[in-house]
Amino acid sequence: MRTLFVAGYATTSASLMWTLQLLLQHPHILSEVQQEIDITLNGHRPTWTILNKLSLLNALISESLRLYPPAWRITRTALNEDRILDYQVPQNVSILIHVYAIHRHPTFWQHPKIFNPARFMGSDAMPPRNPAWMPFGAGSRLCLGRDLALTTMKIILITLLQRFHLSPKGPISSGVRFVTTLQPATPPSFQLTPRI
Ligand code: HEM
Repeated sequence: MRTLFVAGYATTSASLMWTLQLLLQHPHILSEVQQEIDITLNGHRPTWTILNKLSLLNALISESLRLYPPAWRITRTALNEDRILDYQVPQNVSILIHVYAIHRHPTFWQHPKIFNPARFMGSDAMPPRNPAWMPFGAGSRLCLGRDLALTTMKIILITLLQRFHLSPKGPISSGVRFVTTLQPATPPSFQLTPRI
């Protein structure tokens, strides 16, 4: 139960909060995503097939998870002595894989600090194929709930944006807190106004 709560609930809710914060900071993207949802769904509930056709929504979520990966670090313990490139890894040491830093490293991303969902548009798949995109980990311990999390996020965002206008209530900070999951320094405060 604890695994489900931390691994599943805290991560998905943090990611939704970051995505809403990014939309509040970039109103032109907010209106483009809302338009994509309106045109594609025409007020109806999404089906599984349609979820993957919302390319801007998918790109928005990928970019939000890149800039603000809720699981901002992954840890491992070396069971045996090993070697990674030029580094000798002694037995029993703890290794921290800094996902947040990898997601902002200029070797892997152009203009890494800029919020640009377009980098995931076009030929790229959902989830993206770039191995430096690892909000759900990688390899044999890849997140078991990845598809559930992505689907939950899409359905919540679609439902919210179909029904409400979103606007900030006061200033929005970009500061982060590196706690169990990556959190905003100050949670965004926003207003929901029903769409007629
Ligand atoms: C945005 C949401 C989520 C993020 C960012 C996320 C992130 C991650 C990451 C990075 C790992 C790998 C940890 C490691 O390698 O040590 C992981 C593993 C795991 N996640 Fe998620 N997760 C999310 C949602 C979920 C959900 C919804 C569930 C289940 C309901 C879930 C269940 C798990 C489980 C059981 C593992 C362990 C897999 C294993 O060790 O074989 N996660 N998650």
